[in-house]
Amino acid sequence: MSMKNAAGEVWSNYGKAFMILAKDGPGIIPARDMVKATNKLYPYASALSVLDLGCGVGELTNSVIESHGSDLPPSSQLLASDIAAGMLSQLELRKTNALAKGITAWEKVETSVDDAQDLSAFSDNSVSHVLAGFMLFMIPQPRTALKEIRRVLTDENGGGAFAMSSWLELDSEWYHIMTLTNQFRPERPSVKMPQTWLTIDGIRGELEEAGFRDVDVYPLKTYLPFEGHEQLADFMMYTFPNMDRMTAGFTEEELKELRRQIIEYVQSRHPTAPSKLEGTAIIAVCRK
Ligand SMILES: C[S@@+](CC[C@H](N)C(=O)[O-])C[C@H]1O[C@@H](n2cnc3c(N)ncnc32)[C@H](O)[C@@H]1O
Repeated sequence: MSMKNAAGEVWSNYGKAFMILAKDGPGIIPARDMVKATNKLYPYASALSVLDLGCGVGELTNSVIESHGSDLPPSSQLLASDIAAGMLSQLELRKTNALAKGITAWEKVETSVDDAQDLSAFSDNSVSHVLAGFMLFMIPQPRTALKEIRRVLTDENGGGAFAMSSWLELDSEWYHIMTLTNQFRPERPSVKMPQTWLTIDGIRGELEEAGFRDVDVYPLKTYLPFEGHEQLADFMMYTFPNMDRMTAGFTEEELKELRRQIIEYVQSRHPTAPSKLEGTAIIAVCRK
């Protein structure tokens, strides 16, 4: 199996989980912020094409439509691209539902399976906005992807706009919950993310090195709301992306103990429920 197929298959399994998170997850506040910030650099009212790269179920595409659906030029396109076909099929369902509700800007959305490290399906200078939500830090060659992003962005109107998001130093409460699995299988690290992409200075350095201009990088608080401690423990253990990989092969006793520890941790941080887990994203916005 090729690298592309392997990565695509792993992520395809999480399409449904991402649809649940898309309703009320920690990606929503960052997505809205990225759209607002890129609009200041390059108004969506004069967009050529908008590329949502590593789109998942279309958090960024949805935000563009929510904020600017009615002022996008008729000729503009919303390109939603991901390595995982299973994510794109959830996005297509979202499109069908949105169109049924009369949100016509979804007609502009075209999906395609691509590896962000090879955007040969997109021509040079063809895109006014690239939005990459929580993706660059997880691919083997992020610098190759940055090169491709610069290539497809337009030189016109002061240079196309690019925004990306990452997580600040893994300080989010949902990451702490993921690391609780480490004690049971220390040989199986919970999250592998290169340090450079978890810091404000690291990301600024990568973007400037790749040739982007007017680079602005900043932290942004975001949240994962929950109804009750037990429901949250079950959601984290059985739905949250990657947790299945970390808990694979756990015995009944280990799962029970993990659930107990998740509840204990969340109660210590949020004694009453409903409440929301807290975390910090990093947002970076710049121009070609
Ligand atoms: C954490 S999700 C983020 C989804 C969405 N952008 C958001 O902000 O909610 C990461 C996405 O990157 C995709 N992905 C992983 N590796 C990729 C690659 N090499 N090229 C393109 N997409 C990739 C995954 O399939 C997944 O949909």
